[in-house]
Amino acid sequence: MSSHRIPFNRPSIVGQELEYVRAAIEGGHSAGDGPLTGRCSETLSSWLGGSRVLLTTSCTHALEMCALLLGIKEGDEVIVPSFAFVTSAGAFALHGAKPVFVDIRPDTLNLDENQLREKINERTRAIVVLHYAGVACEMDTIQAISRETGVPIVEDNAHGLLGTYRGEPLGSFGCLATQSFHETKNFICGEGGALVVNRPDWVERAEILREKGTDRSRFLRGQIDKYTWVDVGSSYLPSEILAAFLLAQLEAREEIQARRTEIWQRYAAELRDWADAQGVGLPQIPEHCSHPAHLFYMILPSERSRARLIEHLAAEGILGVFHYQSLHLSEMGRKFGGRPGQCPVSERVSDQLLRLPLYCGLTEAEQADVIERVLSFNTD
Ligand SMILES: Cc1ncc(COP(=O)(O)O)c(C=O)c1O
Repeated sequence: MSSHRIPFNRPSIVGQELEYVRAAIEGGHSAGDGPLTGRCSETLSSWLGGSRVLLTTSCTHALEMCALLLGIKEGDEVIVPSFAFVTSAGAFALHGAKPVFVDIRPDTLNLDENQLREKINERTRAIVVLHYAGVACEMDTIQAISRETGVPIVEDNAHGLLGTYRGEPLGSFGCLATQSFHETKNFICGEGGALVVNRPDWVERAEILREKGTDRSRFLRGQIDKYTWVDVGSSYLPSEILAAFLLAQLEAREEIQARRTEIWQRYAAELRDWADAQGVGLPQIPEHCSHPAHLFYMILPSERSRARLIEHLAAEGILGVFHYQSLHLSEMGRKFGGRPGQCPVSERVSDQLLRLPLYCGLTEAEQADVIERVLSFNTD
């Protein structure tokens, strides 16, 4: 529990979470793949343009399932932005792949599509894209490169549920995509995720991998009379207790999104003049993208000014936090050949980006305090 008066994130009950958890237990089905899991999957599928959605225990596990579905093995390469979550790369490294790091664009902080082609070779097995803050990568160019080279796209859509690119939902562009319901996301169940399968011919194998390598999903649908071990796999399915909590959150979509959007827009409007005067960068949203108000960040002019602002906020009990540290400079990244200067934008953003509190239960008065405190800060 954060000791800050205004934490960076605070989970909240927005609807029928507790009633649904009780119903899951009283209904006698608390393990995975019960009716509540089914309802979560159907809801998510409808948000994602009809893609097949399998709930998982985390986004990380969904990414591991992507590695399995793509048959990743020792000697393969996977392209990933350096400014990303550890498991955006780690899930593939777990199966023997070498992550090949690409720098990000300075405006959207997404993988720089203009540096993509030069990284692709005969060992490349996947292009992993991350829609940072739920603002889309340049999917037209990335999809064209994928088509030309035959290298599939995996969307790490942990931030991007309900975001769009040219009107199409994020999570519907890659052959596979992954979602997170970790407590910091828009829709939560503590720890949880989903795999989005946009290739109908991969659905059956995905079900098997998720169910310990068995064809239990077919058994549950009544397609076979007993299930057995048919492939590799693991236990990637969440319990109905988690699905119960998540379903109530998904059903509260309008309320959650309205509140988050309100908070995001207020930060953007009230910090704009200060940011311009102080040389601070704010999120840039291309016209053809809409985002789900997942996070609000600022890019300070230096690492030192960011550290000073964190202290300035903390003195008033407000928690501002930085985000990813460049993967190519991490201990593991260096083992894969990462070196300073390789992804300069990612290195700068890792040192200078700060995120402000943004969660459904943040009150207007609390946000006013955060804004007032930021406005009283001088970057010089
Ligand atoms: C972009 C991205 N991908 C993956 C993850 C991992 O999600 P999970 O905690 O559900 O495994 C995160 C976590 O915050 C993330 O930000």
